[in-house]
Amino acid sequence: MKVDVLLGLQWGDEGKGKIVDVLAPHYDVIARFQGGPNAGHTLEFNGIKHVLHTIPSGIFHDDKINLIGNGVVIDPSVFKKEIDALVKMGVDVKKNLFISRKAHLILPTHRLLDAASEAQKGKEKIGSTLKGIGPAYMDKTGRNGLRIGDIESVDFRYRYDALVEKHQRMLAHFQFNFNLQEYEPAWFEGIELIRSLTLVDGEYEVNKLLASGKKILAEGAQGSLLDIDFGSYPFVTSSNTITAGTCTGLGVAPNKIGEVFGIFKAYCTRVGSGPFPTELLDNTGELIRKKGNEFGSTTGRPRRTGWLDIPALNYAIMLNGVTRLMMMKPDVLSAINPLKVCTSYQWNGKQSETLPFDVVYNTPQPVYENMEGWKEDITGMENKNDFPGGLNDYIRFIESKTGLPVSIVSVGPDRKQTIVIKSIF
Ligand code: GDP
Ligand code: IMO
Ligand code: MG
Repeated sequence: MKVDVLLGLQWGDEGKGKIVDVLAPHYDVIARFQGGPNAGHTLEFNGIKHVLHTIPSGIFHDDKINLIGNGVVIDPSVFKKEIDALVKMGVDVKKNLFISRKAHLILPTHRLLDAASEAQKGKEKIGSTLKGIGPAYMDKTGRNGLRIGDIESVDFRYRYDALVEKHQRMLAHFQFNFNLQEYEPAWFEGIELIRSLTLVDGEYEVNKLLASGKKILAEGAQGSLLDIDFGSYPFVTSSNTITAGTCTGLGVAPNKIGEVFGIFKAYCTRVGSGPFPTELLDNTGELIRKKGNEFGSTTGRPRRTGWLDIPALNYAIMLNGVTRLMMMKPDVLSAINPLKVCTSYQWNGKQSETLPFDVVYNTPQPVYENMEGWKEDITGMENKNDFPGGLNDYIRFIESKTGLPVSIVSVGPDRKQTIVIKSIF
């Protein structure tokens, strides 16, 4: 068996949580491989709306294993809140949730360092979610980090204190007031809770599950354009959000990757700072934000909005080896006329379908093609045969520009508002 991957092709918030929840019945295991509580994955079903941060989006399916892989960073206090909310809803997390011992811990001081660093950057700030992601991954790659498995060792508290002391020395260099005691009690309660859950050697677990014929779906967080290597650096997150991150974040070999589902919005959004070639700063941008309810699932910040960007989409498709596309939220574009789609850029005086090395100081100018769009409300549609001609044209246009089939079109936030236009399984 192979690991199928579902990940975002834009700047995050494409609707990954919704589609993982929709696809979960076809899998035995759902696994997160990178990121942490910076993610906010929204699921809607039976009138319930739920946002997950660290926990895989298969958790509402009683018969699925949900694995948090080694590539994820976990903040025990955020994690405990997530678990408490799920337990209240009757979810049996003890049975269905596995955590890799090699996943790294986000300490309270990582959050403080994130906030201090952003405050110091002022106008140049990344617009981080302030969850301590950057500092936690810095300690991982700097070989100072603490891992989930360390909580089982007798000297855990000693190692925690030593790392906190180091962080406090770093914090002293910032003009930043903080009170660590505010954060620590909840953090240690979270550690106690994690001790009561199932900790595994994730890489052995995943490969054992594959060998025994189990089907695994890897759930990406953030989006390809926020990837630490290939995103609009430095306005990125601190992990590899692309398919390659699945291998390192779960411990599966590249030849064990199967389908790669690339998910994108019918337009673009970005939350936080950084270049956004097709950004709309006008009334249409505001209309898309309102209709699409484009406010961050984790931070509540308004998301920046813009037209669909095909060269950026093709860049993400290339990096990820996408095999099928899934388009989200075209319902938000109903009655917007004309629709614009960026099909190439202008940079350094030339037309190009690729991104320049430096997108921050040399943000490419979009070249658009206009499309007529459609007027109809599509949120109640249940069959692709009901789609208005303008939507079919939009889908066909994207397929022709990317060379890939659009397999799923989502027409609303609910599980049921999902239309399979080319069958997957
Ligand atoms: P994720 O981080 O990729 O899981 O996405 P988020 O949950 O942060 O953001 C996606 C938002 O769009 C959520 O509020 C979803 O409920 C909502 N959503 C998902 N699919 C659709 C859709 O097809 N139409 C509309 N209108 N909303 C959708
Ligand atoms: P999901 O999984 C959208 C953005 C932040 C900021 C940059 C760095 O819900 O799609 P970080 O806290 O990671 O250091 O922030 O990345 N960002 C996201 N944007 N969706 C996300 O996750 C994001 N996670 C981080 O806004 O610009
Ligand atoms: Mg999100």
